[in-house]
Amino acid sequence: MGYCFDKIVDRRGSGAIMTDCLRERYGREDLLALWIADMYFETPDPIRKALEMRLDHQVYGYAVAPESYWQSILDWERRIHGWTISRETLTFIPGIVRGIAFVLQCFTEPGDKVVVQPPVYMPFLNLPRANSRQIVYNPLVFDEAAGTYRMDLDNLETVCRTEKPKVLILSNPHNPAGIVWPATDLARLADICQRYSVLVISDEIHADMVLSGSIHHPFPTISATAAGISVTFAAPSKTFNMAGIVSSFCVVPNPELRKRFFGYLEANELNAPMFLSTVATEAAFTQCDAWRCAMLSYVEENVSFVCDYLRDHVPGIVAVRPQASFLIWLDCRGLGLAQDALIDLFVNRARLALNDGVAFGPGGEGYMRLNVGAPRAMLSEAMSRLEQAVQSLK
Ligand SMILES: Cc1ncc(COP(=O)(O)O)c(C=O)c1O
Repeated sequence: MGYCFDKIVDRRGSGAIMTDCLRERYGREDLLALWIADMYFETPDPIRKALEMRLDHQVYGYAVAPESYWQSILDWERRIHGWTISRETLTFIPGIVRGIAFVLQCFTEPGDKVVVQPPVYMPFLNLPRANSRQIVYNPLVFDEAAGTYRMDLDNLETVCRTEKPKVLILSNPHNPAGIVWPATDLARLADICQRYSVLVISDEIHADMVLSGSIHHPFPTISATAAGISVTFAAPSKTFNMAGIVSSFCVVPNPELRKRFFGYLEANELNAPMFLSTVATEAAFTQCDAWRCAMLSYVEENVSFVCDYLRDHVPGIVAVRPQASFLIWLDCRGLGLAQDALIDLFVNRARLALNDGVAFGPGGEGYMRLNVGAPRAMLSEAMSRLEQAVQSLK
């Protein structure tokens, strides 16, 4: 079946954060919006049809998650990542960001320390702070030879020894730079965290969008140690462009951690799926393989298009080529602009809404994050606007 990812879907007025909060966030509305991490592609037909069918039923009362929903997750993880999950270690979570907050509330106290590895997805910084926990940084290191970042595991050991954090939040793969972590690094991270009694939250929301040439390793599959010290979150929301449905899940292999966390979720009724979440998830995981493959090929071509365009036409901006997902971390330091001037360039000269790198914590200065989950024509327009804006600086 052919899919048309070139189709332009006008999202304005649909209540999409992407398009309908521009004035509030950027001060103007006439922007090409390529920021928040959802895509412009239509959510796959089988998901929309399954939702329509359910909505056609006249009663929307309390719903139970069918066994086929749980099975679709178990089968998906086994099929896509070779990860065998036992049913009792799996539960529903109403969104991964919330899930991370639940773990912090369940396993830590105000004042406790949480390790994050910036530049990183902004809620990793905001959630601990908003919950009165302290952030401890283990900054990523840029590896020129690899053209991407690596974790500084020696420094992680020092941070764990000296700061005594309770939790580490891992983006696996990593947002914003789209890094697929090598198994060896994950294994070492697990050993360090176990040695210093640090609980690992592995956020794997981008796992099903690994681009060719890389292999994603679910954290609990790395070793018995990793399985024993972790709470892992995943979801169909990014891959199948259904983040607004709010459907995620969580796996905790260690029975003690599980008893405590699942007990907390149960006590507060935080693990009860909405009926649309189960319907959409099951359709995504059982009927959308071909769509996913086609979408990933299209995204990969978008990545190449943007990386090549910037290299050939926009001196001063270098793309960090992602190994996963549809976000490109742009190193704009070559333009020599202060952050305010960089934002002004993108918003007021190029009329583009991207994410400000500073929001991703230390190491984000001079960077912007671009979303390439969009029709090529939109990216082509974005690139030519950016080229002209950079030329106008001379
Ligand atoms: C690493 C990461 N985790 C979590 C989320 C959001 O997850 P949810 O919508 O399930 O809260 C995002 C969205 O961009 C993300 O990039």
